[in-house]
Amino acid sequence: MDHYKKEIGRALAPLVELAVPRVVELLEEPPEPAMGDLAFPCFTLAARQKQSPAAIAAALGRSLSGERGVFWEKAAPRGPYLNFYLDYPVFSDDILKRVLAGGPDYGKSDRGRGEVIVIDYSSPNICKPFGIGHIRSTVIGHALSLILESQGCRCIGINHLGDWGTQFGKMIVAYKRWGDDQKLKQDPVNYLYYLYVRFHQEAEADPALEEEARLWFKRLEKGEAEAVTYWELFRRLSLENYEQVYDLLGIRFSYHHGESHYNDMLDDTIRFVQEKGIAQESEGALIVDLEKYGLPPAMLRKKDGATLYLTRDLAAALYRKRTFNFTRALYVVGAEQTLHFQQMVKVLELLGLSWAKECIHVPFGLIRFKEGRMSTRKGKMILLADVLQRAINLAREIIEEKNPTLANKESAARAVGLGAVRFGDLSNDRIKDIEFDWEKVLDFSGETAAYIQYAHARICSILRRAGLDEPDWFEGAGGHLGQVEERALVKTLAAFPEKISDAAGSYRPSILARYLIDVARDFNRFYHECPVLVGQQELRRARLLLIAAVRRVLKNGLGLLGIAAPGEM
Ligand code: ARG
Repeated sequence: MDHYKKEIGRALAPLVELAVPRVVELLEEPPEPAMGDLAFPCFTLAARQKQSPAAIAAALGRSLSGERGVFWEKAAPRGPYLNFYLDYPVFSDDILKRVLAGGPDYGKSDRGRGEVIVIDYSSPNICKPFGIGHIRSTVIGHALSLILESQGCRCIGINHLGDWGTQFGKMIVAYKRWGDDQKLKQDPVNYLYYLYVRFHQEAEADPALEEEARLWFKRLEKGEAEAVTYWELFRRLSLENYEQVYDLLGIRFSYHHGESHYNDMLDDTIRFVQEKGIAQESEGALIVDLEKYGLPPAMLRKKDGATLYLTRDLAAALYRKRTFNFTRALYVVGAEQTLHFQQMVKVLELLGLSWAKECIHVPFGLIRFKEGRMSTRKGKMILLADVLQRAINLAREIIEEKNPTLANKESAARAVGLGAVRFGDLSNDRIKDIEFDWEKVLDFSGETAAYIQYAHARICSILRRAGLDEPDWFEGAGGHLGQVEERALVKTLAAFPEKISDAAGSYRPSILARYLIDVARDFNRFYHECPVLVGQQELRRARLLLIAAVRRVLKNGLGLLGIAAPGEM
């Protein structure tokens, strides 16, 4: 809508003595079509002009009476607002043309050109299965990369694997004591997790195990061959398993730089902090006191010399700035780590690094699985791979029932199943905790990916029936789309570019996800009221163009969320 708002901005700016961008910013969407399409609120002017907002709106209405623009046809006051009415035939023509000519690029922008954005996401912990705990970071991080890239940013996706730390000492002890090569080969990740759990159970009865684990981790840190061999084995097996999940989800990282990647940078990092004079010894440990900032001390080295998660994150931030010269670095990590990132940013600030504020934590809430169709074996973690497989299976059952003769069932089941999991997450404001409910995420008439995918497939089928994959443009098409439902749909399509840029600016894929629900809903209302394949020639052609534009927006929008839009389902 930006384009049309600017036109109104140019007409109003001289009358209200505000700059065009400011007018554009103030324009609102009226609650009902009868009140026009864009409303200028007069409250801000009231104080300056010492007049009531309604009187100002009335005066502006008088100055613009009889006037019009290219895209708006009249302006009329209503209470404290001056309402603008779009010239729909012209506006609809313009929008349809933009969408259809833009094709796969409709919605993209180059606003972010020149930006280099590091996105740290997914980041599961090795030796633990890829559980649902990491589902949110994975799908939100991936959607953000796609959304930001559509704005012209260069995104560098980094999988900050948890592949270092004292747990590896524990794993080595457990494997040496109870490990079985055969079982490890069969089902590596579950077996590693079994050993991890067993270690903790046995260590309760036998605390000496903890000490042994600590020593093994020390050996690993020193680079002793035996320890390193075990660690490499555990890491490789885990990563191979994670790759299957990423493949299924169509996710490619620029780098799998886990925590271990920074091992040989830790001494330099600590030295740098010491040289800046912000570190101090405290009971044998090395810390940065952050009390003044209301934060707990940032510990960089423990009494026994071991470094911490935070030390590695500091080293990683310095490395990333040095290597990629990012303009922003996003950390798509659960809200429970808020304090950690506050400490990290504060230490970077105290180091005098002006880019510290460009390190941005993008937090999200917890995900919980509603018990039900997903039976979990007791004591087992819910694996992401199982969730995805389950979703595909359920989608297959539904499709089988709804459309038994469908040719490409398998790929439709994948698109719908994976879409359900992704959208079930992305359609919620990320900061909220979510409950994952199988019934809800796969409900074809609910606020789901399937609902949107279904609208898309339906349009594909109408166009197939019309024998036109890409209907031909004709001048004046917009003039035929005068029904309320048609106007509403065109207006919704016009909002797409703004929704993407809002989602990008606030790191909220949910803005785009909710919007796509609106598009599908407006399409269904239209389709209910306005038959496409009957009626006179021009109307039919105009409606075919309209639905082709809807299909385009649905496809591009789902694509930015990492969700496929099958042509049939
Ligand atoms: N592996 C960590 C976890 O599962 C997340 C890492 C997030 N990224 C980071 N740079 N700290 O909790």
